[in-house]
Amino acid sequence: MEESKDLFLRDRQAEDAQEQGLRPQYFKEYIGQEEMKANLFVFIQSARRRGQVLDHVLLHGPPGLGKTTLAGIIAKEMGASMRATAGPVIERQADLAAILTSLEPHQVLFIDEIHRMNRAIEEVLYSAMEDFTLDILIGQGPSARTLKLDLPHFTLVGATTRTGLLSTPLRERFGIPLHFDFYLPEELQQIIVRSAGILKVEVYEEAALEIGRRCRGTPRIANRLLKRCRDFADFKAGGVITLEIVQETLSRLGIDSLGLDKQDRRILEHMIEHHGGGPVGLSTIAASVSEETDTIEDVIEPYLLQQGLLQRTPRGRVVSQKARQHLQGPAEPKPDQLEIL
Ligand code: ADE
Repeated sequence: MEESKDLFLRDRQAEDAQEQGLRPQYFKEYIGQEEMKANLFVFIQSARRRGQVLDHVLLHGPPGLGKTTLAGIIAKEMGASMRATAGPVIERQADLAAILTSLEPHQVLFIDEIHRMNRAIEEVLYSAMEDFTLDILIGQGPSARTLKLDLPHFTLVGATTRTGLLSTPLRERFGIPLHFDFYLPEELQQIIVRSAGILKVEVYEEAALEIGRRCRGTPRIANRLLKRCRDFADFKAGGVITLEIVQETLSRLGIDSLGLDKQDRRILEHMIEHHGGGPVGLSTIAASVSEETDTIEDVIEPYLLQQGLLQRTPRGRVVSQKARQHLQGPAEPKPDQLEIL
């Protein structure tokens, strides 16, 4: 447990450090998720006008779509600071109690992967969220008493890849549940142009759009691909990211015209070759491609479902006709067939 907790934190910190400079801090810099932004803006302005904290917010969606970024924006727009933690690192009720009692008034508490918090620990949140109190058990046996402690008013922002894994009492205590959609290529194009400005790299509009089309609808992947394209552009004289540079970089990285990577294609191909395209159970797929079921469900599958490449049926996953056609399409050039830079 200790080791996995450390690994979780280390991964997160590395990811955060890479993304830090590119994250928007206010709504006006944040591109996409228009409906969500417009509603949140109203809720925040009203809460501020009343001098109250914003109601608790649950952010739901696949990784990399900006849940952490939005939590930071909520804090900034409320004029408050943010304290961040994650479900898997809260190991005891006392850990959570310590966090709650040390919050500043109106602070935003961000709990990433809130669905991975232990159920017994989660119960501490119920009264904290509902009436800003903490029930502490003093003593043991028949003489045990509970003491109610007042907490500062705060806003909990929880992030999860799957709301279905949250217990009903916890889910119901969030007044503002928000779902993230995958971004449109044009929105991702704007995000890439903005990031390129911050990274001081020149990118052509059509090159940014091509990355936008092939980054699985995900800003985190878009920014990662932008950096790899910059590497190839720097390597070639000029340093400008052109459409050709993007096409070459993505081919070399094994990312196809729909943005699928090798693992996505492996899964679809395996299902076609070994199971006639399905229906196949999730655990069978996971075992045959050596992947965790959670990773398939949370990270890989949402985009395949959204693109209509995969369907979920009561009997298992089924590969769509669109996926079959896509996989049979013109072969992507192999890296060794590409012009050597
Ligand atoms: N960087 C990552 N996500 C972003 C977004 N939604 N808007 C602007 N920049 C971003």
